[in-house]
Amino acid sequence: MLTQLVQAVYVIAAVLFVLSLAGLSKQETARRGNILGMSGMALALLATIALALQESERAVWVTLLLIALALIIGLIVGMLRARTIEMTQMPELIAMLHSFVGLAAVLVGFNSYLTEPVAAVHLVEVFLGVLIGAVTFTGSIVAYLKLSGRTKSTPLMLPGRNWLNLAAIVVSLGLLAWFLVVPTLLPLILMTVVALLLGWHLVASIGGGDMPVVVSMLNSYSGWAAAAAGFMLGNNLLIITGALVGSSGAILSYIMCKAMNRSFISVILGGFGAEGGTVAASDKDYGDYHEIKADEAADMLKNARSVVITPGYGMAVAKAQYPVADLTQSLRKMGIQVRFGVHPVAGRLPGHMNVLLAEAKVPYDIVLEMDEINEDFEDTDVVLVIGANDTVNPAAIDDPTSPIAGMPVLEVWKAGQVIVFKRSMATGYAGVQNPLFFKDNTAMLFGDAKEQVENIIKAL
Ligand code: TAP
Repeated sequence: MLTQLVQAVYVIAAVLFVLSLAGLSKQETARRGNILGMSGMALALLATIALALQESERAVWVTLLLIALALIIGLIVGMLRARTIEMTQMPELIAMLHSFVGLAAVLVGFNSYLTEPVAAVHLVEVFLGVLIGAVTFTGSIVAYLKLSGRTKSTPLMLPGRNWLNLAAIVVSLGLLAWFLVVPTLLPLILMTVVALLLGWHLVASIGGGDMPVVVSMLNSYSGWAAAAAGFMLGNNLLIITGALVGSSGAILSYIMCKAMNRSFISVILGGFGAEGGTVAASDKDYGDYHEIKADEAADMLKNARSVVITPGYGMAVAKAQYPVADLTQSLRKMGIQVRFGVHPVAGRLPGHMNVLLAEAKVPYDIVLEMDEINEDFEDTDVVLVIGANDTVNPAAIDDPTSPIAGMPVLEVWKAGQVIVFKRSMATGYAGVQNPLFFKDNTAMLFGDAKEQVENIIKAL
């Protein structure tokens, strides 16, 4: 009876998760999506605890104590991390959380192998679960270390690295055959070591600009690892949730690859953001740049009819979204049309700029995607590039030798006047120089983006 009830609750939780994803796809409904997801998770937890209590061979209070302990540890770690994390550190937090899912899948796999009867289907489940889990575990740790700046983000270029990856997969297949014929612990342990190394090597050989795709790819892997754990534990909800995470991560990776004009395979096998490219790019003479002060920028804005703001990572660092929202309001009051152009990979995580602008209460209807605004730059008087760099780099279109060649960018240089807010002439995330800064219609406004936007508001 309880088992049937739990299965029914699992179905309700699964529906809530699907509705949650649907809600999260739009800013207007994102809050509702979050609440639906949290409700689904609470139901799932309660049902799982009830089931564990019923199935446990220990005394009820021992099982309860163990569950409570695990919950409290998770709660404390989760709350502490979530409270202290800055929006800009979100990708590294996500990478760290993926590593937990990977580790959990490995542990569930070993536990399942050691405690459950040996059947061929079960062995394949265990093998795949541990394999995906181990790759996700070390891959996510390397992604975390790179994103948090604890290791260099440049790609590791081992000779014949693609062959190394291929060899790891072939060896794993051989170990699977061995494991199926002789189901002992040795092939499972050997495969775990190979998979741990593969995960580490896969992500270590990917550099700079491709990290967002890697994080979303690891998101997908962690989903499949959870689904595999669901099969091993005979837990339908875990299978559904894992498949939802796995497929949405894969779809997101695809969307991001499209936004960067890169094929998924070339991201996995590529070495984008390599230091070699940076050095070559910075050797070139781009000419002189033109610097202005905040009051001159304010004059340009006063005389404009239409303004487009293209925010980037620097706006997040400076926390400039609040004065940017105030500036938008003032300009709109003066009868000037103000819109935002958001590049799909601006900032450091998908939707980063949208979240910041929503936080500062910028109206949704003036925040446009790259494709929606790119044709309008020709008719725009002033573009404010606030802390963006790679996403407004014309070299992506003009220079086939550039490491970011082919990536679609916001074509801001087509506007009458461009004002770039940044602190120095330093490069952006991909480490490539930006010819936009040296164009005749570009003016550099140096300094912290928040302070400079506040100065403009004062001057206005
Ligand atoms: P970036 O190319 O990273 O450039 C940001 C610029 O902001 C820098 O040039 C920096 O110049 C400036 N900046 C930093 N702090 C500032 C401050 N306090 N005030 C003013 N300016 C400041 O930014 P982007 O155009 O948003 O491009 C994003 C890049 O990150 C892409 O290459 C993308 O592929 C990659 N990436 C994206 C994601 C996702 S999913 N969105 C995730 C990881 C990586 P100064 O140092 O001179 O100030």
